Amino acid sequence: MRVSKIRDGTVIDHLTAGEALNVLAILGIDGSSGEGVSVGMNVISDRLGTKDIVKVEDRELSQSEVDVLAVIAPEATINIIRDYAVVDKKRIERPTAVTGLLSCPNRNCITNANEPINTRFIVLDEGLRCDYCDSIVRENEVPAYLDVA
Ligand code: CTP
Ligand code: ZN
Repeated sequence: MRVSKIRDGTVIDHLTAGEALNVLAILGIDGSSGEGVSVGMNVISDRLGTKDIVKVEDRELSQSEVDVLAVIAPEATINIIRDYAVVDKKRIERPTAVTGLLSCPNRNCITNANEPINTRFIVLDEGLRCDYCDSIVRENEVPAYLDVA
């Protein structure tokens, strides 16, 4: 056990090795806010060979955060921890759309003008399609277009 148990918060488990840093980006964690965060990379796993794991103390994730996580890490498990016990275990499901959180790569997209419009992407097999201008963000590009921090 390389990463110790937490008292309250969220454990994002069974991440494919290499995904932990993208998860931190999605959650807007860069170490500056003082949150307690533990990251295990290339941890030995019965199921996956090696996996990554992210533990965030005193925080439960919003649905839009879970939706973006589901796009890049559909095999992950989200465990809600309260008083050291796992009180909920969610297998995340790939969403049909993601609202907010990602910006559109097309500089001429209406979502990049100074308009009060939330971005909205439709989830396809090959990536995400902007609902306004049809630009495509491929899965491996998602971290680059995160609208966080
Ligand atoms: N965990 C934690 N702190 C706690 C309780 C659990 O960090 N107080 C972590 C465990 O280390 C594990 C995950 O939360 O990575 C899920 O815990 P648990 O359901 O007890 O483990 P498993 O049964 O191995 O989970 P799974 O069936 O999802 O593999
Ligand atoms: Zn667009």
